[in-house]
Amino acid sequence: MAFSLKSAASMKAGVAGGRVTRKNCVAVRAGKFDEELMKTAKTIASPGRGIMAMDESNATCGKRLDSIGVENNEDNRRAYRELLVSAPGLGEYISGAILFEETLYQTCSNGQKMSDMLTAQGIVPGIKVDKGLAPLANSNGEQWCMGLDGLDKRCAEYYKAGARFAKWRSVVSIPNGPSTIAVRECAYGLARYAAISQNAGLVPIIEPEVLLDGDQTIERCLEVSEAVWAETFKYMADNKVLFEGILLKPAMVTPGAECPTRASPQQVAHATLTLLKRRVPPAVPGIHFLSGGQSELEATLNLQEMNRQPNPWHVSFSYARALQNSVLKTWQGKQENVEAAQKALLQRAKANSDAQKGVYDPASEGSAEAAQSMYQKGYSY
Ligand code: 13P
Repeated sequence: MAFSLKSAASMKAGVAGGRVTRKNCVAVRAGKFDEELMKTAKTIASPGRGIMAMDESNATCGKRLDSIGVENNEDNRRAYRELLVSAPGLGEYISGAILFEETLYQTCSNGQKMSDMLTAQGIVPGIKVDKGLAPLANSNGEQWCMGLDGLDKRCAEYYKAGARFAKWRSVVSIPNGPSTIAVRECAYGLARYAAISQNAGLVPIIEPEVLLDGDQTIERCLEVSEAVWAETFKYMADNKVLFEGILLKPAMVTPGAECPTRASPQQVAHATLTLLKRRVPPAVPGIHFLSGGQSELEATLNLQEMNRQPNPWHVSFSYARALQNSVLKTWQGKQENVEAAQKALLQRAKANSDAQKGVYDPASEGSAEAAQSMYQKGYSY
């Protein structure tokens, strides 16, 4: 029999007139969306599938378009995003797509809403709800993530528009410290966002990105990541976030981009699984890594290695750059290249789907493109 969270809440917190009271209730809650949140999270964390992150802000999307000589205007952004959401068969490998606000309300050339195109492919539409990063006063030149003001109302609107999950990306910089206030701010902001999203029926993706920038060793990255996730889970518990109804989006544990000692996929997988086992309760249904500037190939190989060892979660991907790089280069903004670009997307999506199942064969990769690093110092999303 399925364990009922409501009855757990009743046992722990007591029931008053049929209503669960939250007195003395530690991380156990009964919200009106609980069942739906757990179902959405399970659907996204389904075997052999992962998340396509296509929530670049208009400015960042502009930088990508610029790299292929395409002007950054609404028509071109729509054309590119339409190419992604309409790729035939994408739903076999992709379970969720994170959209930027513009895309959630955007219509494709056939008159269908982008979000409906996704739903028709069995892909859950999600939405980036943070408002980006700003300098954190009195820190070591670090940043904090904005967007809590009015978040409840925005989440309710996004739910009405068809979104069922949300993303909030905060960052932690290792070369800059990280300072106590930066880690705390990152963790507390994520916890508040998670609670607000869940109350509006959106599954929150928890993304404290430990940035690749710096010359730190893999061991130092593990140490910082442990500290960040410990605080994040503490504040999520304080804020009564339902762990069964969240998804995580961590950075893999790797050496910094400028560290002379590099790590093999086996070493990355070992360090990353060490982090997860020490910090993440098995109640969390899915872990979807960001690619963070790794090459398409590296991101796939590292994911594969993690799925070659037993672990209690669905360990998968939520890549932007590591799914889209070859696609953009193939497209070049030309209608006649759309089909080839969609094939390139399917190839990356399938490679990562195979890696999620632990059956990826690198020999199946035709081009050298996938091996190109996408790291950019100080990259902003
Ligand atoms: P990358 O995979 O490019 O690091 O994107 C991560 C991200 O936060 C998108 O949601």
